[in-house]
Amino acid sequence: MMKRRAFVKMAGISAFAVSASGFNLIQKDGITSTDCATSTDMLGPFFREGAPSRNDITYQSEIEQLPIKVVGKVFGADCNLPLKNLEIEVWHCDHKKNYDMESDEFRCRGKIQTDQNGAYWFKTFMPAPYGGRPKHIHYLIREVEGYQELATQLYFKGDKRIKQNNWVKYPWDEKRILEIYRNEEEMAEVNLDLYLTPKSLLENK
Ligand SMILES: [Fe+2]
Repeated sequence: MMKRRAFVKMAGISAFAVSASGFNLIQKDGITSTDCATSTDMLGPFFREGAPSRNDITYQSEIEQLPIKVVGKVFGADCNLPLKNLEIEVWHCDHKKNYDMESDEFRCRGKIQTDQNGAYWFKTFMPAPYGGRPKHIHYLIREVEGYQELATQLYFKGDKRIKQNNWVKYPWDEKRILEIYRNEEEMAEVNLDLYLTPKSLLENK
């Protein structure tokens, strides 16, 4: 039953063109995208304007939490072009499952920038799951010249709250379920590369 439903969904998606720069275009529910584009996820009700620019969004709490570093790169047009000096906003809930909507601390929130190679990083701790949702970190990259806005979320491999046809519906969503590994600093780390969708794809279609 589940499998069949998944298949029907897949069948509605067709590769119909290969662009000059080599990536495949796909069409889903009337939306044209690239086959590398990072899939979107809910912005959710807890986004908050005004978070400070910082790469460390940890805060002090009495509860011991697993520190985690998130790294990755942001790519554009041909699924290959690194996007430098791009602002990414990230946020997640604290260990009490609360989103900081009020305090000046902007707990678990920050704006980060990609470097000259399109790379970004931030340090935080493993977010708590809430409301039956898997553990997750929100991302927002606002509309920049040539690219559509991207609101998405990062999940962690092995989280039993991730269920098929729930938060992760399509094969490409699985690219956002990340394996936790130990990095050179002996720290838990995950890697999420992001691929923006060029606006020109919308205009052409
Ligand atoms: Fe959330």
